[in-house]
Amino acid sequence: MNEKDIITLSIETSCDETAAAITKNGREVLASVVATQIDLHKKYGGVVPEIASRKHLESIMPVIDETLEEWNQNCGGVKEDIDLVAVTYGPGLVGALLVGMSAGKAMAYALNKPLIAVNHIEGHIAAAYITYLELEPPFVCLIVSGGHSHVVLVKDYIQFEILGRTRDDAAGEAYDKIARVLGLGYPGGPEIDNRAIANPKSMSELPQFPRVNFSDGTSDFSFSGVKTSVMNYINKEQMQGREIFVDDICAGFQTAVSDVLVQHTLDALTKCKKNISNPDSLNKIAVVGGVAANKGLRAKMKELCDVEHIELFIPDFELCTDNAAMIGAAGYYSFINGRKISGLDLNAIPNLKLGE
Ligand code: KG4
Ligand code: ZN
Repeated sequence: MNEKDIITLSIETSCDETAAAITKNGREVLASVVATQIDLHKKYGGVVPEIASRKHLESIMPVIDETLEEWNQNCGGVKEDIDLVAVTYGPGLVGALLVGMSAGKAMAYALNKPLIAVNHIEGHIAAAYITYLELEPPFVCLIVSGGHSHVVLVKDYIQFEILGRTRDDAAGEAYDKIARVLGLGYPGGPEIDNRAIANPKSMSELPQFPRVNFSDGTSDFSFSGVKTSVMNYINKEQMQGREIFVDDICAGFQTAVSDVLVQHTLDALTKCKKNISNPDSLNKIAVVGGVAANKGLRAKMKELCDVEHIELFIPDFELCTDNAAMIGAAGYYSFINGRKISGLDLNAIPNLKLGE
């Protein structure tokens, strides 16, 4: 191990994944364990906060132990080699966050190592640094998950300017709600995606749903209109005694959502370029968060970025949905860029914003 290497133990419990990881210098994953609670929440059609907290409590120490074991087997690492403990402190479900934070505090205290608090949204952005070792800011980042939809200018590793955000539902939330209406289970994203991708019909043969744009110059999103429109479509078809073609609704919905996500991100990049003296220095887009696993979105973004000669960075599938390696990456960059070390009085901030 190099003298200057920084080994980070990171912990993530903001929603329904209990995760821990060991990363080296923010970019290299030495061990990573994700215990998902999806099966537990499936029968309720979404995450039940109290059940999530209890399950995190049950899983957190076994997940950390398994991560340390994996690291030891992979590279002979031992607890004493850890330099930094990084933990998600928001946004997320308060009870869930507190479980991971308590474990993080205990580890930092026991190992006598610094504790760094990580914003979960910054974690999603940092996932791109793991997949793409060459990626450096500045770039425009589309963050789309179950709880967030933002377009952000990543100015450097710890400075962000929000260019657009959702005014109602997050993109993943819209996927999950539509899936529930269609009886496709939770989480809805992967199922709708698979059905949409497998659908051979052309655009003109699919039901059309609205794409919302605002005329105030922001790159904001709104997904509640498309959701209502899908529900109205289903009601109308049922009332007129017509058969509901679920796969067609999935494809029409996915096309509408991905059109908006791609267009708003490209527009945001164009606007940013106009405001800087050297526009050629900003020619990169990253797409992160659970919905970045969407095959339709990935393909459309790639197609348009190729046309515009924009470099595109989308993390590997397992780094799109919640994991702790991304928290380790963000924690490392917070640490080396001089952000404040947290004390044992660190509290969870359930509605933490990006850049706070
Ligand atoms: O990032 P994530 O794991 O958790 C949050 O921070 O919210 O994102 C979970 C969200 C869920 O809404 C899920 O339906 C969505 O990501 N998702 C997808 C896909 N895979 C996961 N949405 C669309 N297509 C997918 N393939
Ligand atoms: Zn997330």
